[in-house]
Amino acid sequence: MKHLLKLLDLSTDEIIDILNLADQLKYEQKHGIPHNILKGMTLGMIFQKASTRTRVSFETGMYQLGGNALFLSSKELQIGRGEPVQDTARVLSRYLNGIMIRTFEQEEVENLAEYGKIPIINGLTDFCHPCQVLADLQTIREYKNKFEGLKFCYIGDGNNMANSLTVGCLKVGMNVTLACPENYYPDKKVLDFTRDYANFKIVNNPVEAAADADVLYTDVWASMGQEGEAEQRKIAFKGYQINDEVMSSAKSDAIVMHCLPAHREEEITSKVFEQHAKEIFDEAENRLHAQKAVMVRLMSPEH
Ligand code: CP
Ligand code: NVA
Repeated sequence: MKHLLKLLDLSTDEIIDILNLADQLKYEQKHGIPHNILKGMTLGMIFQKASTRTRVSFETGMYQLGGNALFLSSKELQIGRGEPVQDTARVLSRYLNGIMIRTFEQEEVENLAEYGKIPIINGLTDFCHPCQVLADLQTIREYKNKFEGLKFCYIGDGNNMANSLTVGCLKVGMNVTLACPENYYPDKKVLDFTRDYANFKIVNNPVEAAADADVLYTDVWASMGQEGEAEQRKIAFKGYQINDEVMSSAKSDAIVMHCLPAHREEEITSKVFEQHAKEIFDEAENRLHAQKAVMVRLMSPEH
């Protein structure tokens, strides 16, 4: 693995290897075992969109591994004034040991990887959010001790989260059901990928999708960059919510997950959110551990 651009590029073995290392790094951090694996290395973090979790977990993770992280807002970089990403990649490759980028177009991330000479990590694009899903898989395995045969249900927009969750959950052996409104299905590349999986389906009814689910997941109705569509989306997504009715359709020990930030009373009720806050914030914590594993594998392959 040279980069983390999207989960479609990773084999099941590569995903499991990252999760195993993430568990080990989590254990070591909890037991105060220090690391210097990335000593002297610097990660550049380019943000073209807002972030709380991604920024803080990457920066802290890099620090815990003995390295440094640089926050690079695109507003202050020459990228914001039109310097091509291809040139930025070639320049930053001379200074840094890795780049994490959060942006709009997936193509921009793929271009950075093509023109740069250092590992590129996708910190969210309109197409996918692989770091989040690695943390999500780590969390699911912590709660359920396995993947094989679990029923995963996602309710809401067929967005970057739905794209990455579908690919990640299918690759590790879960059964995946999505409930999305007709005009908000996942990306065609992801739907093409699912053709090989008989254990994947999309329905339009959230209660039906949640039947016997072990894991329920949702995300905002309007993602970053879609703020102008918010009102129209509130109408399209009405009812695509994790609430008591959906919960009673799922298994009684189902866990509830959300990548955050959450919009209470839209995609999830406050009541369900608070009842499952433990899972949701364990999931947020695992961003740190999963991303440390990604950085070790990409930036220090001998470890
Ligand atoms: N889930 C997630 O990526 O959060 P941020 O947008 O706060 O980074
Ligand atoms: N789908 C959301 C995820 C945020 C982590 C967005 O892109 O804004």
